Amino acid sequence: TKMKVSVSVSLLLLCFVCRVKAVTIESCPLATGNLLRTEVEKTLTLTCITDEGIDPSNQNELQWFRNGARVNLAEENRWSRSSLCVQPVTKEDNGVVFICQLKGDASVNSSIEFDVQYPPDLNDTKEVFVEETSDVVLSCDVRANPPVTVAWKKDGEVLDLTSGSYKTTNNGITAQLSITKAKRDVHQGTYICEVNSSVYGIMGRTFNVTVEDKVLRFPVGPTIAGVVVVLCTIVFALISRRNKIIKCIKPN
Ligand SMILES: *[C@@H]1O[C@H](CO)[C@@H](O)[C@H](O)[C@H]1NC(C)=O
Ligand SMILES: *[C@@H]1O[C@H](CO)[C@@H](O)[C@H](O)[C@H]1NC(C)=O
Ligand SMILES: *[C@@H]1O[C@H](CO)[C@@H](O)[C@H](O)[C@H]1NC(C)=O
Ligand SMILES: *[C@@H]1O[C@H](CO)[C@@H](O)[C@H](O)[C@H]1NC(C)=O
Repeated sequence: TKMKVSVSVSLLLLCFVCRVKAVTIESCPLATGNLLRTEVEKTLTLTCITDEGIDPSNQNELQWFRNGARVNLAEENRWSRSSLCVQPVTKEDNGVVFICQLKGDASVNSSIEFDVQYPPDLNDTKEVFVEETSDVVLSCDVRANPPVTVAWKKDGEVLDLTSGSYKTTNNGITAQLSITKAKRDVHQGTYICEVNSSVYGIMGRTFNVTVEDKVLRFPVGPTIAGVVVVLCTIVFALISRRNKIIKCIKPN
């Protein structure tokens, strides 16, 4: 029995001495591993808690970092336990990493990463006017998390991109459809960049494209040049006749 007690006591001591120092982050809503999934406009709270293994008297001051930048904490929100509130969550918070660490020992730390879901900002109609034989570009902001797929449709049907008069690009931020040398019978109509989100479903921006007659504009540049030439001619004519005019007024 003596032996057993002594072993227990030493185990207990051992436990106390080599207790691993740690900080843990609790979040609301709950994170999966260290990934916290949320949506824009939501409110999040993060609470960093020191393990009891940390000497409560002076070594338990906590620090928070948001993407490496220190977060200012009120004096009463630093010791043993520290809470942050993120409100409202924005698109810019997507991918942000928060780290909580002991001020005196940065190796005692814990981190959490935000996965902010948001739909693309696309739910409107644009009126587009283009002259015959001119070019036009239709643009959609397709930024979203999770990323979306994009399909271009004209009058309800998926566009045939092999015909050559259309070109599409999509860099994950902006999706564009370029029309070169617009022709009314081919290009006029209602276009849509239809995005498909696994979370938010189908959305899109509608473009009502009207192909207008080519306007024969009054050529401003050449007109001005012409007027200048005419004016100069008149001035030179007057100057060359000046002597004669003066002579007429002041006869010798
Ligand atoms: C967090 O702690 C680990 C080891 O526990 C260390 O490698 C890492 O550099 C620490 N991170 C920071 C930001 O100090
Ligand atoms: C799109 O806009 C219409 C009217 O402006 C609105 O009723 C609808 O809820 C919006 N849809 C989305 C997905 O935002
Ligand atoms: C949207 O994508 C899902 C798969 O993510 C697919 O099952 C569905 O048919 C798509 N809808 C349209 C209209 O393309
Ligand atoms: C598109 O434009 C045409 C001509 O300007 C107009 O008649 C039509 O009502 C418009 N459609 C929509 C959906 O705005």
